[in-house]
Amino acid sequence: MFNETIGALLLAGGKGTRLHSSRPKVLQTILETPLLQYVYDCFDALSVDKIWTVVGFGHEAVREAFPDRLDGFVLQEPQLGTGHALQVAWPAIKESGLAYVLVTNGDTPFVPEEALLDLVGHALAQHADVAFLSLVLDDPGSYGRVVRKTDGSVRSIVEAKDFLCMDPGSEIHEVNSGIYLFKVETVEQLLPLLTDDNAQQEFYITQLVDLACSRGMRVVAVEEGDATALLGINTPQELVEAEDRLRPQIVDRWIENGVIIRNRDQVRIGPKVTIAPGVDITGPAEVYGLSHLGVHTRVASHCRIEDSELNGCQVHSFSHIQGAVIEEECSVGPFARLRPQTHLESRAKVGNFVEIKKSTLGQRSKASHLTYLGDCVIGKDVNIGAGTITCNYDGKNKHQTYIEDNVFIGSNTAMVAPVTIGRASLVGAGSVVTKDVPEETLCIARAKQKNLRRHVG
Ligand code: UD1
Ligand code: CA
Repeated sequence: MFNETIGALLLAGGKGTRLHSSRPKVLQTILETPLLQYVYDCFDALSVDKIWTVVGFGHEAVREAFPDRLDGFVLQEPQLGTGHALQVAWPAIKESGLAYVLVTNGDTPFVPEEALLDLVGHALAQHADVAFLSLVLDDPGSYGRVVRKTDGSVRSIVEAKDFLCMDPGSEIHEVNSGIYLFKVETVEQLLPLLTDDNAQQEFYITQLVDLACSRGMRVVAVEEGDATALLGINTPQELVEAEDRLRPQIVDRWIENGVIIRNRDQVRIGPKVTIAPGVDITGPAEVYGLSHLGVHTRVASHCRIEDSELNGCQVHSFSHIQGAVIEEECSVGPFARLRPQTHLESRAKVGNFVEIKKSTLGQRSKASHLTYLGDCVIGKDVNIGAGTITCNYDGKNKHQTYIEDNVFIGSNTAMVAPVTIGRASLVGAGSVVTKDVPEETLCIARAKQKNLRRHVG
C-alpha cells in the first residue's frame, strides 16, 4: 500500500486507572467488542507489514482474547509509561528491518483509515523523522498539548499534568491524538534519552517530539481538525459515549441495506455481525460477535444472540442464543436458551424454558417445554416430552446421549448418560433411563403404580 515498509505498534500495556476495572482497558468493550479489536481492524484494513502489540497489565487476559495475534505480542513489565512501551518493543521493530513504525494507543478504537493515510502521506512527503496526528478540542482535558514555536513549527508535546503545573492560566487547544509515525533509523538514537522527570514519573513517548526537535530532526504534526474519532477512551463516560455514537450508525447502516429493525433505538448490533436483507428484528435486541442472520430470519423482542448463525428461522421473545447454528424454518423460544455448539437442523423446534448445550437436534425434532439437553446427538423426527433432562454430568465427567430417529421421549424423563435410545423407540413418561434402549422398543423405567385402599377418617 505504501512506498516504504511500515509496521504498526499498538500500545496496550496500561491499566486504565480511570475506568476502575480489574480488566485491562483495551479489553473494555463497545458493543461487546474489545477496544483493541477495533484498532486491529483498522490496521488490518491498512495492510501494514506487521502488527506488534505491547501488553502488560492483565496480559494473560489480552492473550486469551486474541489468540491469533500472539506472534506480535511484546510483554512490558513493569509498565513505566508509553515511551517505555516503545523501548520494550524496539528490538522486535529493529529486527524486522521495516523503515517506519506507526504507533498508536490501543485505547483509541475508531481511528479512520483516512487519518492514518494522511499521517503517513504527509510524513513521507516531508521526510519526517517523527510525525503525529493532532486535533483541536474546545476542552483539551487530559490530552497532551501541542506546543508550537512562534514560526508555527512544533516544539514539543506537554502532557496535561505537566502543562497545568507549568502555566496554570494559559491554555492550548491543539492536542496529541496518540498516533505517531516514527522513522526507525533516526528515532533509535532518541530512545535511550527518554527520562521520567515529569509529573507522573513515567517515560513518555511524547518526549520524543521534544528530543527530535532539539536535535534538528524533522517533526511534523498533521492536524485533523476536531475529529472526535481520534479520541481515546479513558473514563466510563467516554466509553459509553463512544458506544452511543457507534450503535445507531451500525443499526442505520443495516436498515439502509434492507434489514427491518423495529424499535431501533433499543437494538444493539456488534460491528462484525452480518445480516441479510429482509431479516426482521424487533428491539430491544442484542446481536453480537460473529453472528450471521440469514434470509428469512425473524427475531422477536428481548433476545440476545452472540456468535451464532441463524439461517432463516424464527426466534421468539426472551431467547438467549450463544455459539449456536440454527437452520431454516426452525422455531426457538420464547424463553429458550441455546448454548455453544448447539445445532438445530431444519424445522426443529425448541420451546419455552428449554436449555440446550453442545447438542444436535435433527430435522423436524421438537423439544417444546421445560427441558435440558446437554451433550446429545438427536436424530430426525424425535419428540422430547416436557420436563426431559439429560443427566450428562456424573460429578466428574460429561457423557453423551444418543437419541436416534423417530424416538418419542415421554414427559419427565431423565436419561443418565452415556446412553443410547435406539431408532423408533418410546420411553414412557417419568422414566429414569440408565441402560441403552434397542430399536423399536417400549422402555418403561419407573416404579410400577400401586393403588392401595386409603382409610379416610
Ligand atoms: C497519551 C499521550 C497524550 C495523548 C493521549 C491521547 C503519553 C505520555 N501521552 O496520554 O499526549 O494526548 O494519549 O489519547 O503518551 N500504555 C502502555 N504502557 C504503559 C503506559 C501506557 O502500553 O506503560 C498504553 C495504554 O494501554 C494506552 C496507551 O498506552 O492504550 C496510552 O496510555 P494512557 O495512559 O492512556 O495515556 P494518556 O494519558 O491518555
Ligand atoms: Ca489514553
